[in-house]
Amino acid sequence: MSHEKYLLPLAFSLLLCVGFRVEALSQPPAKSPTLTYIKDIKPLLKDRCIVCHNREALKNPALSGGLVLDTFAGLKEGIKGKSPFVSGKSAESALFKRLSVTSPTLLMPRGGPPLSKEQIALVKQWIDSGAATGDLSKESLVVAKATLEPLPVNVGLQDVIVQTKITPTADMREKTTPSNATLATALKVGPLPAITALAYSPDGSLLAVGTYHAVTLWDTKTAKPIACLTEVKGAAQSVAFRPDGQVIAIACGQPGVSGEVRLYDVKAQKYIEPTLAGHTDMLYSVAWSKDGKLLATGSHDKTARIWDASNGKELQALKEHSDAVSRVCFSPDGNTLTVNSSALLPALRKPSTRSLLASTGRRLSPQV
Ligand code: HEC
Repeated sequence: MSHEKYLLPLAFSLLLCVGFRVEALSQPPAKSPTLTYIKDIKPLLKDRCIVCHNREALKNPALSGGLVLDTFAGLKEGIKGKSPFVSGKSAESALFKRLSVTSPTLLMPRGGPPLSKEQIALVKQWIDSGAATGDLSKESLVVAKATLEPLPVNVGLQDVIVQTKITPTADMREKTTPSNATLATALKVGPLPAITALAYSPDGSLLAVGTYHAVTLWDTKTAKPIACLTEVKGAAQSVAFRPDGQVIAIACGQPGVSGEVRLYDVKAQKYIEPTLAGHTDMLYSVAWSKDGKLLATGSHDKTARIWDASNGKELQALKEHSDAVSRVCFSPDGNTLTVNSSALLPALRKPSTRSLLASTGRRLSPQV
């Protein structure tokens, strides 16, 4: 058996390969200037990474992970001598991989917003093009600025303790552990939505706390939540107790779609009619008149409105605002309504306030 008949095509294809290779090499070099650590990478690490990865923080592995990125030497050294980059191989380099992973626990910078696509591409390109350093002789040690406070790792997470019926084993017990002790487990919950509104009931016994899609009622004596009012459109931007404390008005809405006020009966523990609907954008503010007969609302739709609280009829729509109405407020005697907007008329591009006779909406004071 002879393999001769294969030799010719093999030699030919080898020649072809060589030919292509020579051609590729003889092409003019890429125009883009070489990326260097000094010019392209260091500024980025300085801005976003050394706040944790600096030599001071080495003492605190929870902050630095044992990685120092404040000089090239530190970057090359990596953690315990294992460099986070392999020249020419971004796919094998933690420095690149940790910038683009989907897992938020692995993503760098930890706890902060990711780098931009361009910045990540730059790091990749730097590694793949050979990780040139540039002139390191003048490299200065950059010191982390105190203004770049690192975020706590579990930002927004809270422990929710769930008690179990499991009794601890002997090795779990300490001297002080009661004999009837049971184990509890802590579940990390969150991040929880931001609080968007707060109001005390007139007698101070309740605190209404508005967030996205819900208002929680807290008993202020026991510091325990007693009810969670859901079915709130968007964020509860403003909550207000009727002066007799029996009804809560919740101002909410969907941006650009509609705004409404829902009324909740505290004793009956349910929503009651009417729902005040008509605004064409989310609400920012709701207020009761002293006698609890009128409600005023302020909205992103540039209007303030006065409503009959008993039947939900709109009595007045106060337009003329060139921007959102951020706050409405009745005077203590209930006769005057003050409306605050970021701008009243196109000519007057500054925050403004005006007062009106609450029952009619007639203007009382000139614009200020
Ligand atoms: C808030 C603090 C913090 C910031 C900011 C931060 N890191 Fe980290 N980084 C850590 C901690 C802690 C670890 C170790 C735990 C781990 O591996 O997740 C780590 C690990 C790493 C690792 C893994 C090293 C290895 O070899 O396994 C790399 C690479 C890394 N960081 C790069 C960066 C880069 C690049 C930036 C900036 C774009 C950055 N980090 C910003 C805290 C931070």
